[in-house]
Amino acid sequence: MKKRVLVVGSGGREHALAWALARSPQVEHVYVAPGNAGTAWPPNPSAGEWPPRAGCSRVPVAADDFDRLVAFTKEEAVDLTVVGPENPLAAGIVDAFQAAGLRAFGPTRAAARIEASKAFAKDFMARHAIPTGRYAVFSSYEEALEHLRHVEYEVVVKASGLAAGKGVIVPDSREEAEEALKRIMVERAFGAAGDQVVIEERLRGQEASVLAFTDGHTVVPMPPAQDHKPVFDGDRGPNTGGMGAYAPAPLVTPELLDEIVRTVLRPAVDGLRAEGAPYVGVLYAGLMVTRDGPKVLEFNCRFGDPETQVILPLLASDLVDVLEACLSGTLARADVRWRPGAAVTVVAASEGYPGPYPKGRPITGIEEAEALPGVVVFHAGTARDAEGRLVTAGGRVLNVTAIADDLPQAIRRAYEAIACIHFEGMHYRRDIGRRALA
Ligand code: AMP
Ligand code: GLY
Repeated sequence: MKKRVLVVGSGGREHALAWALARSPQVEHVYVAPGNAGTAWPPNPSAGEWPPRAGCSRVPVAADDFDRLVAFTKEEAVDLTVVGPENPLAAGIVDAFQAAGLRAFGPTRAAARIEASKAFAKDFMARHAIPTGRYAVFSSYEEALEHLRHVEYEVVVKASGLAAGKGVIVPDSREEAEEALKRIMVERAFGAAGDQVVIEERLRGQEASVLAFTDGHTVVPMPPAQDHKPVFDGDRGPNTGGMGAYAPAPLVTPELLDEIVRTVLRPAVDGLRAEGAPYVGVLYAGLMVTRDGPKVLEFNCRFGDPETQVILPLLASDLVDVLEACLSGTLARADVRWRPGAAVTVVAASEGYPGPYPKGRPITGIEEAEALPGVVVFHAGTARDAEGRLVTAGGRVLNVTAIADDLPQAIRRAYEAIACIHFEGMHYRRDIGRRALA
């Protein structure tokens, strides 16, 4: 019996998940709730190895509407649900599915605290001797301010709760640090996410994202990736949700990856299990590779965005098998193989992003881009207008992705592909992956 699969979420990560699942010969159909204009395509039984075989369609249910997601899953006899974003995980979507006798891939609410509460994550790392920067947690503004005035190292100020990746402020002076604290705790720029703050040692080095599959015992790392957060070339300008990514990142050598599994990922999975919150899903370690070795900046309780868009095209095994092995506690016996080569994704963003941006601008050229070998264009913020035309509907619009034999070729191919694509005001970074070539 072929399987029906549901992906929860609406961004480029969810399009990449749906694409990878639809390439599995076991899958009959993929649903994405709520999805975007990219997550709908007809079945193509004669497709070769690269394009998806199973069809995909959207389900008009929001990612936080657990009752309707559970009802849909029952009505349509969905076999496997995969949750993309952190918000439903932190709100207990997996627990809601389990309570209804259903399976969903991702951590429970208790395990998702590793991302949802930075205060929890830091205390957890301290309890389990996982390498990370020095820190202190505060619920009182006055006490936090007092600490800032005396702390002897450079700091980063973080709202403890979920703030869509915006709750971290990296100040360049004590005044800026105090300003950040005030924004979070007094002006409540991130709402209740700022009820607690973490004041953390500022680490120096290069960042890497290491994601791993886990069934709560076994940890299987994915190829390491690097994201590019600032909006402009050379890492200038304000931070974004990510302007591009590549994998594998040569910064994380096989030896370093082993060290990260040994000192970070395995202790985290073992620690959560020991504390009564076994973690099943993808565990994402955001790391700073410092002179003293890798240290954790943050944990995420899910696939990264846009890292997933470069990692999943490198997966040689069947994603359904890997996810089911996590859910059934048999990951140690699963076959998780990666293709040689490299993948790059370049984000095409709307005019003005990460500030306010217009919507509804027609997009052209995706077919030409996808006609290039090894290219796939994942949609992040797209919609159909009244006439059925593809238009922009978000700040990050498209993730133009290429896979090739090596990183220089993947970069070249991704930029060749994005040159085919047009919408008014489109902008993108020209230096995605360049750091790895130096
Ligand atoms: P986070 O959401 O915690 O990963 O933080 C977002 C970004 O802030 C990271 O990708 C880093 O660039 C930066 N950052 C966070 N924590 C630190 C730290 N302790 N030292 C230096 N930079 C940091
Ligand atoms: N790429 C950063 C994140 O997924 O949180």
